[in-house]
Amino acid sequence: MAESQRHPFLHGLSKHRGAPPTVVVIFGASGDLTARKLIPAVYNLGVDNLLPTDFHLVGYGRKEIPDDEFRTLAADAIKEFSRRELDQDVWARIAKNTTYVAGGYDDADAFKRLAKHIDEIEKGVGRDVQVLFYISTPPSVFAPILKNLGGAGLAQKHLDQPHHAKVIIEKPFGHDLASARELNGTIRSVFEEHQVYRIDHYLGKETVQDLLVQRFANAIFEPLWNRNYIESVQITVAEEVGVGSRGGYYEQSGALRDMIQNHTMQLLALTAMEPPVSLHAESIRDEKVKLLKAIQPLRLGPDGDVARAQYADGMLGGKPAQGYLKEEGIAEHSKTETYAALRLSINNWRWQGVPFYLRSGKRMARRVSEIAINFRHPPGTLFAESEKFNLAGNTLAFQIQPDEGLSLILNAKVPGLETRTQPVKMNFRYATTFGSNTPEAYERLVLDAMIGDGTLFIRGDEAETSWKLCTPLLEYWSEAGREGMDSYPAGSWGPPSADALLAKNNHHWRQP
Ligand code: BG6
Repeated sequence: MAESQRHPFLHGLSKHRGAPPTVVVIFGASGDLTARKLIPAVYNLGVDNLLPTDFHLVGYGRKEIPDDEFRTLAADAIKEFSRRELDQDVWARIAKNTTYVAGGYDDADAFKRLAKHIDEIEKGVGRDVQVLFYISTPPSVFAPILKNLGGAGLAQKHLDQPHHAKVIIEKPFGHDLASARELNGTIRSVFEEHQVYRIDHYLGKETVQDLLVQRFANAIFEPLWNRNYIESVQITVAEEVGVGSRGGYYEQSGALRDMIQNHTMQLLALTAMEPPVSLHAESIRDEKVKLLKAIQPLRLGPDGDVARAQYADGMLGGKPAQGYLKEEGIAEHSKTETYAALRLSINNWRWQGVPFYLRSGKRMARRVSEIAINFRHPPGTLFAESEKFNLAGNTLAFQIQPDEGLSLILNAKVPGLETRTQPVKMNFRYATTFGSNTPEAYERLVLDAMIGDGTLFIRGDEAETSWKLCTPLLEYWSEAGREGMDSYPAGSWGPPSADALLAKNNHHWRQP
């Protein structure tokens, strides 16, 4: 492909990242995620020549859809959602091996039919194929699907070989600690942990992976990466979008379950964990779990470590935006938070005393996800006169999205005949250095699962540790009802209670 040759991200990649003959089976094949992310991800891997020669895609869902129609739906999804335009040649190669199986999720016979379909594909290929099951359905049917995969013998397929069956499980992974444990129990009754790939799509984002590289491939950071030099850390995942048509789902979820428990906690773990002994998946996940376990239980109550709020009427992009309670499918007195902020303490040698602030919200001023490391101020002996010396604490900010990159705020002399200072920003931007058209998170994740690399997926104990921290808070909020629920205008940077959370330590939220 001309594109692969040109693009620096792909240089030399296919040589090292070859997957064996694979059948990807998507459960929830007519769903939104399949159209928006999964089919485009498979297609873009095809464009980059990263699909195995014998690659088959099987859609599975309750609706009766003929193969041809499924292929048309898939092509339409590519046209609408792929980062690159539909190339008929590439698509034709994928489409000829794309089929659909209709069946219920709790219908054992349908899973036997699926097993037969996969056997036929394998016969056609003429050698063993690995099967990758992608569970992209509502969580209510995760358990029946898993059990039926076991019942039909599909979970055990080629288990004694390197290219055994694998399963990707979409979020949400449980809705509290008990349900996450139960789900892990169901998974383990059918699959072995090394076959399981729990998705958090934030781990597939380029800049999240860059975090590891920046921290451990540069010698200048490690000596400073601790309580002696770092004053605080702020992790922001802000969205402009509201709940849109997802009100039904969101009412059961809220910002803590939807974003904090998974995406922001993952960012925190990668930012604060100890250096792993190797880049092997288990080494990295071990360190993440250790870090998550060192987080102290949240102090709840009115003066505690948390804030929550719902967006009210406001303005976004020059247009009026309505409040959460007026959105479609939202209860009149909803107690679901669209914004949550936490102050976390990590009780280990490296981080004791350094507050970690996490916030995430919908309908905020701008879509931005970033990790900001705020360093301590220099001693105020030399540049002390505040009218001449405008000094900022140094901040290293990893911009996860959009405009991916890294910036460092330093104090510099303003040019002129006397010494005045001003904070300046040094910038590294992915788009400027490497060009745009970065692969989407799902491309990396689907490819990694096909190859059998679990580094960018969540291990069972990791999911449980994160739920263990969040569940008491969920219970506390659930009991409190709307008491203590703050609000913020749509298009703003969040509620006053979140500012107050930082003010206690004399800190304030950064405006990314
Ligand atoms: C999903 C949440 O996990 O992440 C959504 O369910 C949210 O509510 C989305 O909008 C944000 O993902 P991204 O990649 O757009 O930042």
